[in-house]
Amino acid sequence: MRFSVHYSPARIAAVRDVSPTVRLIEIAPEGGALPWTPGAHLNLSLPIGSGVDTRSYSLVGAPDPHVYRIAVKRDPNGRGGSAYMHDCAVGARLSVSEPHNHFSLSWQASDYVLVAGGIGVTPIHSMALALAKRGEKVRLLQAARTRSELAFANEMQGALGTNARFFVSDEGTRIDAAAEVAAMPADAEIYLCGPLSLVDAFRKAWRAAGRPMSRLRSETFGSSGAFAAEPFRVLVPALGVEIEVPADQSMADALASAGVDVMSDCKRGECGLCTVDILACEGEIDHRDVFLSDSERNEGLRMCACVSRVAGGTISIDTGYTPD
Ligand code: FES
Repeated sequence: MRFSVHYSPARIAAVRDVSPTVRLIEIAPEGGALPWTPGAHLNLSLPIGSGVDTRSYSLVGAPDPHVYRIAVKRDPNGRGGSAYMHDCAVGARLSVSEPHNHFSLSWQASDYVLVAGGIGVTPIHSMALALAKRGEKVRLLQAARTRSELAFANEMQGALGTNARFFVSDEGTRIDAAAEVAAMPADAEIYLCGPLSLVDAFRKAWRAAGRPMSRLRSETFGSSGAFAAEPFRVLVPALGVEIEVPADQSMADALASAGVDVMSDCKRGECGLCTVDILACEGEIDHRDVFLSDSERNEGLRMCACVSRVAGGTISIDTGYTPD
């Protein structure tokens, strides 16, 4: 079950590589593009495998009345969405939702710090351009594994000048979350998007520094867990259901395929709508969301079915779903 999202026909208007693995794709919806704010995302309805599935991508650049722009990193171990988007040629047809924003700027802070790890640069890109355009105090920390993977780095440097700093792990430079947080003004706000490890490092440093969590906003990738994705079994005793979740499918999607509906919205581990109750678990729960707190994760009573997984075992859950 998802909240009602309206899809419109659209076509690919242009494509351009912005790194060896990241492609900028312009999508022209019929009737034009709607306005959106920095941090917004777009859902795409894509034919993947034998069915149709949705993927969510942050909008990059600035709003344009004619096209939406997204940047997609090809993930050879992904679930098919990035491969499909990279294979799409100009003129290809697809369906797009209206833009939604769960990661918006407050426009209330005196200082903004933006942190991007890898393809997490996508929502940060639109934020940086908008803040710089309005003359706000903004600094950027952008990290990638290699220098060529710093997508949009030249554009960011052009907009922010020396307030944009870049970190390349293959060159031995990494973001020191504790040091960066310590150096921020007391009333700074931080917006970060990247792998779970980066988001967790800043959340811990932020909390340890006694800063209000309301001034930290984050997104992460559902694919970044503590363990490699592997198949696991899910039992739903209340419904008499037992399924295998393949390595390339989410628990929520596997349950849906078996006729067990799980409420969802973001499908990125952010909104918490898809949380299910854990009755028992053999194996390690690989929490990949940013919705549950550390203490909730440690309790092991709930998990987000859209992104979180089990490593090496079987889990028994209750979804709260009752068939009609
Ligand atoms: S659908 Fe939003 S956290 Fe799972």
